[in-house]
Amino acid sequence: MSETLLYEGKAKKVFTIDEEGVLLHHYKDDATAFNAQKRGSWKDKGKTNATMSAALFKYLEANGVPTHFVEQTDDTTIKTKKLTMLPVEVVVRNVAAGSLSRLLGFEEGRKLKAPIVELCYKSDELGDPLLNWYHFRELGVSDEELEFCEELGLKVNEILAPFFDERGITLVDFKIEVGRDSEGQLMLADEISPDTCRFWDKETGEKLDKDRFRRDMGGVEEAYAEMLRRVTG
Ligand code: TMP
Ligand code: ASP
Repeated sequence: MSETLLYEGKAKKVFTIDEEGVLLHHYKDDATAFNAQKRGSWKDKGKTNATMSAALFKYLEANGVPTHFVEQTDDTTIKTKKLTMLPVEVVVRNVAAGSLSRLLGFEEGRKLKAPIVELCYKSDELGDPLLNWYHFRELGVSDEELEFCEELGLKVNEILAPFFDERGITLVDFKIEVGRDSEGQLMLADEISPDTCRFWDKETGEKLDKDRFRRDMGGVEEAYAEMLRRVTG
């Protein structure tokens, strides 16, 4: 099977293969934060992100959410449909943390009255700013696409918050992305992992996600391994 590198990102490499219409996403052990100003790497990060994404995409599909997932082909690789991506990062939050705490002046850990959905513009150059529908229309994103993004975010949250709760984890917030396949269907894409979610242990409040790296807290390799165990164990 011939693989051609299509694109190398901060934490993954994407390849085209002989098969039409699919891609291989190879998750690396590398990490960046703050728009690549901070760099690091730890053992089995790629394995956790690929394996957790695969398990969660399968679970979401079984619960009626269309995703790009096809199969996990090895420890660090998933095969997906090839999509045309929307330039949108959909963030859903249940508890205040990170940029929402800064935006609203909320203490980290404050439970939100209802989930908050945010649409950010996927642009490293601009630092992924939070935009409204008027801005997105100007950028060529349609109302149908924006509505799909918000509804998908809320639906994924409705399915995954209880999934993690049963495993002793508070799903504080997460980021997902959306793309369109060759038949025109919009669907969930990218990854769902400790890189793209905030996971707090329900009992102890311990952070089990990339914030341990962003904030130099230590124990990041152990935290990722623990999250993989909670999801697949
Ligand atoms: P934020 O509070 O920094 O805006 O992050 C919200 C969620 O989005 C959090 O679960 C981490 C995730 N996220 C990404 O997946 N990629 C990013 O580049 C950033 C900044 C956050
Ligand atoms: N997307 C950010 C970066 O590359 C990472 C993050 O904070 O999650 O640097």
